[in-house]
Amino acid sequence: MQTITTIKEMSGRLEAFRPEKRIGFVPTMGWLHEGHLRLLKTAKSLSDVTVLSIYVNPSQFGPGEDYSLYPRDVERDHRLAEEAGADFIFLPPDEEMYPPGYQTWVSVDELTRHLCGASRPGHFRGVTTVVTKLFNIVRPHLAVFGQKDAQQALVIKRMVYDLNIDVDIVMAPTVREKDGLAVSSRNKNLTPDQRRAAPLIYQALQKCSKSIQQGNRDCARLKKMVRDMITDNPLLQIDYVECVDLDRMQPLRHISASALIAVAVRTGTVRLVDNIIVDI
Ligand code: PAF
Repeated sequence: MQTITTIKEMSGRLEAFRPEKRIGFVPTMGWLHEGHLRLLKTAKSLSDVTVLSIYVNPSQFGPGEDYSLYPRDVERDHRLAEEAGADFIFLPPDEEMYPPGYQTWVSVDELTRHLCGASRPGHFRGVTTVVTKLFNIVRPHLAVFGQKDAQQALVIKRMVYDLNIDVDIVMAPTVREKDGLAVSSRNKNLTPDQRRAAPLIYQALQKCSKSIQQGNRDCARLKKMVRDMITDNPLLQIDYVECVDLDRMQPLRHISASALIAVAVRTGTVRLVDNIIVDI
């Protein structure tokens, strides 16, 4: 595995593989966990050369969010990425990604109006900008994103379509701890009590899924059920519970086709997201 820190070297090294080899890409913000390793595994199974980037992108964090608390450990990440078989690890410093005078942004409109787009203003503009930059540097044939951040994956899918960026976006299933909590770098910042409370999020989503299977299609009732179950634990505060369609990510009143039930919860300084996709 080769570690590269400059844009020039990253683009140059990959030129040697094009056009014969398929380049798979997994963008991350580091503190690698089983979820990232699964994304890498998916990328490896679909490509010949895999690149994993690690960059804690400041532009996707709002004022007062956890940019400075976001866990970082380059040596550990390096070891895990190597063990998982990445061919290249791209670790650009801020000066490479946002040099002085930087002033260009990419944003996706409708799909970012609700869910995390509403509760974290500016977040998706930062994500779509950095992902566009990374796509321009790596020029992958495919990129893999996790379903845990389903809105992010769908926004990026829309972005590459709208901007004619020639990359296939693959959404891989959420990886969960044994108790159902979605694996996330942010789980590291949970206190033992918060960690014990957190599995309630997925339990509430499972209850919701069961209720949909039993014929409940009313989003207000479904959202209340999820909300009530989570807020039963005083350590968990709801940021949002929403039920949206998968094409436009607009809130639904009734479920009549496939839908995303998405939840964001705050506990102390940590914000956790999770979701299920229902297909009826
Ligand atoms: O999902 C993430 O880790 C980040 O949002 C991403 C896609 C690496 C962009 O910074």
